[in-house]
Amino acid sequence: MSCMDDKNVVMRLIEARDAYRNRLANVFSTNEIDFYFKSVLRGCLDIDPLDLALKPNLELLPFQQDMINDTLEAFLEEKPLQYILGEIHFRNIALHVNPLVLIPRPETEELVEWIIEDYKDLSREISVVDFGTGSGCIALTLKKEQPFFSVCAVDLDKPILDLVQENAQKNKLQIATLQFDIIELDQLDLEVELIVSNPPYICPSEKKEMKKNVLEYEPHQALFVPENDPLLFYRHILNFASRQLKPKGKIYFEINPRYVVDLEYLILSFSDYRVTKRLDIFGKTRMLRIEKQ
Ligand SMILES: C[S@@+](CC[C@H](N)C(=O)[O-])C[C@H]1O[C@@H](n2cnc3c(N)ncnc32)[C@H](O)[C@@H]1O
Repeated sequence: MSCMDDKNVVMRLIEARDAYRNRLANVFSTNEIDFYFKSVLRGCLDIDPLDLALKPNLELLPFQQDMINDTLEAFLEEKPLQYILGEIHFRNIALHVNPLVLIPRPETEELVEWIIEDYKDLSREISVVDFGTGSGCIALTLKKEQPFFSVCAVDLDKPILDLVQENAQKNKLQIATLQFDIIELDQLDLEVELIVSNPPYICPSEKKEMKKNVLEYEPHQALFVPENDPLLFYRHILNFASRQLKPKGKIYFEINPRYVVDLEYLILSFSDYRVTKRLDIFGKTRMLRIEKQ
């Protein structure tokens, strides 16, 4: 047993930081370790990271000591910081996340930015559906930033939608949730004016380029599509849009840069659409806007 595990030995703040640095040295850089340590102090121990400089000999309470040990183990197993903290910030809201949902990405914040820009002068309510909502990051920030949006967030499983409603309450926002399979959208009767989706879009053959913390911890249901049908979800959503999207309605997709050309062909096979592409912060074509004529 190490002295860190001995409940009779009081751990001081600076000792906890040193334990992080020593035990995680083979996995992360010192800068990363210090960032994780400070995030855990603030997010899990309710300690201001400034105390590290101001009160380095602060004695940790037993629950804080346990938290240091547990989070250290989680970091050693390369569990993502966001799942350890259980919370992320997305645009201007805080959201709970757990391993049932994808950790929202900065690229997705840009997709929301685009929609908010396009609809900033809205003066009447319009119906919006977010297919594959996950944590609800898109649905909830759209509602927060454009109150005229009447938003329905769709996903496959009830526990995911429970988390979305928890996040809605946390942020005092009202949106609808719907448990529905995108593959069965031909059975959904829901007229809408705006569709947004960041569906699964990674092929299994891309696994070799992915990091362990994504592959082992993020839900594969949120990430992967069949190797032979990478546009599966887009096709079902486009089919739905051809029936249920009102004239002049718009679709916003986050996309895998590898399949942009194929997706454009697919969209144009539905005719009558005007397509605009947008790059993400990393310079990759990551977003499409599709306007119904
Ligand atoms: C890439 S994640 C996007 C999550 C969130 N919108 C975001 O941008 O962070 C895709 C989401 O689609 C959901 N999903 C996967 N297959 C689905 C299906 N057949 N029907 C409905 N939702 C599905 C997953 O559960 C996951 O939440």
